[in-house]
Amino acid sequence: MASVFQLSCSPIPQVRIALIGLGDRGMKTLRRYAYIHHAVIKYVVDLSETNARKANEALRLSGRPEAGVLVGDDAWQRACRLPDVDLIYICTEWRLHAAMSIYAMQCGKHVAVEVPAATTVDECHALVRTAEETQRHLFMTENCCYDLFTLQTLQLVRQGRLGRLCHLEGAYIHRLTEPSTALTPRSATRQAWMQYSFMEHGGNPYPTHAVGPIARLLGIHRGDRFVSICSLTAKGERVNGLSIGRISNSLLTTESGCTVLLQLDVTTPRPYSRMQTVCGTKGYVQKYPVPIVQLSTDHENAADHADGEPDIPAEAMVGEAAEAFMRSYCSDSSAVRLWFEGKAMGVPNEMNYTMDARLIECLRNGSPLDIDVYDAAEWSCLAELSQRSAAQGGVPVEVPVFYHP
Ligand SMILES: NC(=O)c1ccc[n+]([C@@H]2O[C@H](COP(=O)([O-])OP(=O)(O)OC[C@H]3O[C@@H](n4cnc5c(N)ncnc54)[C@H](O)[C@@H]3O)[C@@H](O)[C@H]2O)c1
Repeated sequence: MASVFQLSCSPIPQVRIALIGLGDRGMKTLRRYAYIHHAVIKYVVDLSETNARKANEALRLSGRPEAGVLVGDDAWQRACRLPDVDLIYICTEWRLHAAMSIYAMQCGKHVAVEVPAATTVDECHALVRTAEETQRHLFMTENCCYDLFTLQTLQLVRQGRLGRLCHLEGAYIHRLTEPSTALTPRSATRQAWMQYSFMEHGGNPYPTHAVGPIARLLGIHRGDRFVSICSLTAKGERVNGLSIGRISNSLLTTESGCTVLLQLDVTTPRPYSRMQTVCGTKGYVQKYPVPIVQLSTDHENAADHADGEPDIPAEAMVGEAAEAFMRSYCSDSSAVRLWFEGKAMGVPNEMNYTMDARLIECLRNGSPLDIDVYDAAEWSCLAELSQRSAAQGGVPVEVPVFYHP
């Protein structure tokens, strides 16, 4: 099967979108696209007519044309078959992501899908197989890859300033409050289905915010690959029928010998953190709880030092000093430019804006996307693999190879 690595498709001058799932995330996406040029929300799709009406109201309020409305159980399939749609954008709960993405690609559409793109290893293989069969893009909307500090760290690593990477840490530590009263696997509301998954899964059902930025730094399937994962989950305690403190910890190894620590904690009162910790032989960067950059001032780093750039201090740069350093050293990527463009426009969230602006820029130019179907599979499969490892007391579980050059 022909690979879709670095896939280029015909340029699309104006990207026509059918947006499926008009809940919390879908509505934020719809509002965000008010700022993105060369893309139009042509259709809004949901189970609920009320949600579709709200979506059109939001389009009207932002001065955009109303979208065609498709509602009902089979509405998403009808949307995938529409001839005047280029991109199916999926913001439903994650149990539906793989099936919807696969059908959309089989209908000839490119796909943008919320995180995680799949919940099982089999689904991940099916996504890859379908993208290769259909030669369509599958872009998992992993917004944390477009955090400014993350983008800047990526540049710093690509400049070689951290030396050889040895160990990285990422997390999704975010207390999701307001426990729902109706916690079943089939619950309709976000609070219910998400919390049920988090409590009952046993591993890390939501690994992509933590692993996405790390995989990009390591160049996974671009020179390195994940080999194995060991996971352990804290027991926590039962409070009012809810499992509090089921913290998932995973340790991955890569072929080149790096280690990666991932954590998921959505129930304890810890401050929000994604860690974003990168240890290299010549430098160290972390974003949380406070940004820190520490570079060795050895001969090589000094030799790379260009005119006009501030000196590299011997001591660690902390907080604003670290951010100022990142601004002066890491401003030349297309994504960083878009981030500041979003900030200048006053978008509600620069990271999400940058992600979608980059997606549309690439589709318009017919160029490869930043995040491909192999990334989606490599990051999403950790949900099942962490669950399997944790169920066996942390035994190493092999990470499948999704990309065969
Ligand atoms: N990237 C991020 O930072 C981020 C943040 C929040 C949520 N998410 C992801 O976004 C996704 C959606 O989360 P949410 O909070 O918006 O959930 P939600 O429950 O608020 O919304 C889901 C919507 O999908 C609709 N839907 C469900 N089944 C459908 C079907 N068969 N056909 C059409 N529509 C259907 C529902 O009616 C609802 O409107 C999840 O996968 C979640 O992981 C990502």
